[in-house]
Amino acid sequence: MSSSPPPGVAPGTDADAGKREHWSGQTAFILAAIGSAVGLGNIWRFPGQAFENGGGAFMIPYLVALVTAGIPILFLEMGIGHRFRGSAPLAMHRVTRRGEWVGWFHVAICFVIGLYYTVIIAWALSYFYFSFGLDYADDPGGFFLGDYLQLGEAGSLTFDVVPGVALPLVLIWGLTILVLALGLHNGVERLNVIGIPLLVVTFGMLAVRAVTLPGAADGIEALFTPDFSALTDPDVWVAAYGQVFFSLSLAYGVMITYASYRRRRSNVTGPALVVAFGNSSFSLLAGLAVFGALGFLATQEGVSVADLEGIGGVSLSFVTFPAVIAQMPAGWFFGALFFASLVLAGLTSLISIMQTISAAFQDKFGWDPRRTAVTVGIVSAILSVIGFSTTTGLYLLDTVDQWSNQLGIVAGAIAMIGAALWIGRRGTELRRHLSAVSTFRLGRSWLVLVNVVALLLVYMFVSKAVSLATEGYADLPTWYVLVFGWGTVAFLALVAVVMPMLRWRRDVEHPDIWPTHEQLELEP
Ligand code: ALA
Repeated sequence: MSSSPPPGVAPGTDADAGKREHWSGQTAFILAAIGSAVGLGNIWRFPGQAFENGGGAFMIPYLVALVTAGIPILFLEMGIGHRFRGSAPLAMHRVTRRGEWVGWFHVAICFVIGLYYTVIIAWALSYFYFSFGLDYADDPGGFFLGDYLQLGEAGSLTFDVVPGVALPLVLIWGLTILVLALGLHNGVERLNVIGIPLLVVTFGMLAVRAVTLPGAADGIEALFTPDFSALTDPDVWVAAYGQVFFSLSLAYGVMITYASYRRRRSNVTGPALVVAFGNSSFSLLAGLAVFGALGFLATQEGVSVADLEGIGGVSLSFVTFPAVIAQMPAGWFFGALFFASLVLAGLTSLISIMQTISAAFQDKFGWDPRRTAVTVGIVSAILSVIGFSTTTGLYLLDTVDQWSNQLGIVAGAIAMIGAALWIGRRGTELRRHLSAVSTFRLGRSWLVLVNVVALLLVYMFVSKAVSLATEGYADLPTWYVLVFGWGTVAFLALVAVVMPMLRWRRDVEHPDIWPTHEQLELEP
């Protein structure tokens, strides 16, 4: 590898980044990263998680997880992406020659999450449409599981595609392929610049209405009434760390990829803080809105919020919330706002997940965005329709989500920290890099914290793996758990092993796109 930049190109300038696309500025970068973070995890997952794990007391592990793990790991990922300027596999390969597999492990997690994340967006799109006729109002539970999903038997596998789910799913995939094919600037950036302000408006209107409904205060009180005994339960802490990781799109390569499109001499830690606090504020707003609405429902039904059924998991958005809408004045309007918000929040996150895959293929094989979008998009769309839009798709979704999220993402984080700090020994270099490009300096305590988080993650991984191995999951048959639960983990590992064996595109070591270590030392 040459140690000097190409003629006329000063090391460390933007020109040495070659053909790599850039965000058009700081606002675009922040909006895209917020778009990635704010997703189904905030609206659909956070309120239920908080309620199930100690209510107001959950805020303590949640905030601890945000400060001790979320923000430090977000800095680490953005630091890796910004300094080593590549998709997850390329950046990790530059971190250490033995690190490429970690990036592919992340890409594989994105691939798996993308397959079912789209399905939930497709449901939300259908429900947006149903809101205008309040189709789900009479019997929300029966409508969702029976009329809409046509749910089959748990633990079985069918290939009976449900057209009402498959159609919006194909639409979502079509849109995703289009956005990715348009490239970073015209596709991904534009979607976020339009989508995020729109989301703030739609969800903001809904939240204002929800917290002013009669009985809303009871719902909010139920969410925030602390059950401090939950703090002694390790599962509550695991849930808080898991929520923060999923919600900030950490440990699956997204933030590495997005930061790699940030211009060389530009701040990343400042935007990272905006993203982290913006994301948590949105989760809090979602908690207020959803529980305000649940308080209203409980008042209408003359029960307490705790007695309402279906507050966690999938039911919250697709059964319980429709029950609220059915009883609300102008319910169709607020139903449409709620599901439009889910679609918008989901789409901007989905695009970041798919861009992480697309960038990896572009870097590895030199494909252009259009070819990558079409190839990756069509393969994903087919698998997503066959696996998840069937009468048994909901069980598959739940199982794959459990293993990819609770084990895959945690393993992805441990592997990244291990490769960057323990094998590649890049800790000090990354700390200096982030301090030099940012408005505040990162102290050594940042690295100490990241190391401690890694140990905590190892504990989380082992305890979750042991519980899934010994107790199974949701009463599903052993063969099902083996094939679709552990099979998911085996798939992630297989991708991580096989992809590094393939050759990089011919010019990837050229200093145009691969600044040498000497060049990196010079910067900024
Ligand atoms: N970060 C995204 C979410 O919260 C994936 O849904």
